[in-house]
Amino acid sequence: MTEHLINLKVNDSAVTIRVPAHRTLLELLRDVLGLTGTKEGCGNGECGACTVFLDGTPVRACLILAVEADGCEVQTIEGLSQGGLRPIQQAYAETGAVQCGFCTPGFVIAAEALLRKDPNPNDDAISAAFSGHICRCTGYTSLFEGVRLAAKKMRVGERE
Ligand code: FES
Ligand code: FES
Repeated sequence: MTEHLINLKVNDSAVTIRVPAHRTLLELLRDVLGLTGTKEGCGNGECGACTVFLDGTPVRACLILAVEADGCEVQTIEGLSQGGLRPIQQAYAETGAVQCGFCTPGFVIAAEALLRKDPNPNDDAISAAFSGHICRCTGYTSLFEGVRLAAKKMRVGERE
């Protein structure tokens, strides 16, 4: 089996590791590094549960090979809350957007990415950010409300 030595940063920690050519970033994160906050749903890019930041861009970790992350910075849901819960995480708790919770890490990363570039997103922008993210529990209303509430929290936080 061909293996490759890769160097990357995961949640601000340097990682140097040999990986088989076929190993996905999702497998590396969950099965090797123990970062199980990132979920495996469909395994083929259709549910969004495995979304992580790769060099600041949200990506589906099930569609990326670990070797493709060589030299990159990965941030998972664990890394996102290293300094305490982000406004979107607090907002999701308040709006009831977390039910079974399986989809939540992916939605949090997608919403965080949106709020970083658009501090006051409208429903069309939220819809676009959530494209390809599936939640079987909430009916989506609380997921949208959570983004609006997080945006408000962030605006108030900036004024304080
Ligand atoms: Fe990656 Fe569903 S597990 S998109
Ligand atoms: Fe259960 Fe979204 S909260 S799938």
